[in-house]
Amino acid sequence: MTDTTDPTPNPHATAEQVQAAYGDPKLANVLYHDWEAGTYDEKWSISYDERCISYATDVFRAVAGEADWPYPTAMELGSGTGFFLLNLMQGGVIKRGSVTDLSPGMVRVALRNAENLGLDVDGRVADAERIPYPDDSFDLVIGHAVLHHIPEVRAAFREVLRVLKPGGRFVFAGEPTRIGDSYARRLGQFTWWLTTNLTRLPALRSWRRPQEELDESSRAAALEAVVDLHTFDPTELERTALGAGAVDVQAVTEEFTAALLGWPIRTFEAAVPPEKLTLRWRWFAYRAWLRLSVVDRKLLAKVLPRELFYNVMITGVKPAAPTEP
Ligand SMILES: C[S@@+](CC[C@H](N)C(=O)[O-])C[C@H]1O[C@@H](n2cnc3c(N)ncnc32)[C@H](O)[C@@H]1O
Repeated sequence: MTDTTDPTPNPHATAEQVQAAYGDPKLANVLYHDWEAGTYDEKWSISYDERCISYATDVFRAVAGEADWPYPTAMELGSGTGFFLLNLMQGGVIKRGSVTDLSPGMVRVALRNAENLGLDVDGRVADAERIPYPDDSFDLVIGHAVLHHIPEVRAAFREVLRVLKPGGRFVFAGEPTRIGDSYARRLGQFTWWLTTNLTRLPALRSWRRPQEELDESSRAAALEAVVDLHTFDPTELERTALGAGAVDVQAVTEEFTAALLGWPIRTFEAAVPPEKLTLRWRWFAYRAWLRLSVVDRKLLAKVLPRELFYNVMITGVKPAAPTEP
């Protein structure tokens, strides 16, 4: 029987599971992301059209170039609903794909999205620290916003290198930097506090979400704090990948002013009723973010230290097989 005082946002989890999840980041990841799977694309404005295809291909190009496109086979770790892999396939970066995730709900949604798009994709539930594929399986392994959830990041890199073919490449993007995460978090908390207090005023009442929805968001945020395990210093992340045996390793960072704008906007959008967010507003917010991303990439990346930017991405290569003497 479901306990109605259950603090979990996951309708299927028992109170005991939730309690256990606070001490077990992997269980927390499954509960949290299973719960999120059905609404994840909407929450994060993920689409499978030109907007996200060009975002995904631009990110990939920024860290790993385009000399090897298309990669014949690729596997994504922590694929979620398939945002990165499916859009890279549509953008001509990858021919055949495999989605994997610790959350069975996410794998289901990713496979359904792939089928709707007519893409050649298979999927498995998989833990990045123990990838259920044989050695030398893929030309490319990718991930987006997954490394910061994995307890043993070096073990995951070792596994990635094991399943890559010799000479194969990995690309991980969308990871929070140590400094970026601290200002993004503070801005998010301040925006949440401001919006939820201002919308108590009688004149702004119609902008207030029902209290139970606000409470649910706060509980989700508490579980989010359990699943977010790491932030990264770009140089240390490079060392971790090199220590696992990769070569040609390079970390690149992006988004400074775009993150300063993007986090308050995203938090504001989560704090008000969705029907208040018109299509016009959504396009305005997206275009403003896009313009600032260009300023960050073309101008600020040349003058500011890379540690200041919000996102870090990393690429590297599995050493080619030694040649016979
Ligand atoms: C923030 S979501 C990102 C999803 C997707 N890559 C995207 O960018 O939209 C992180 C995903 O990583 C998965 N995950 C967390 N820990 C994992 C692990 N140890 N192995 C594999 N996947 C994991 C979660 O279930 C979740 O779907």
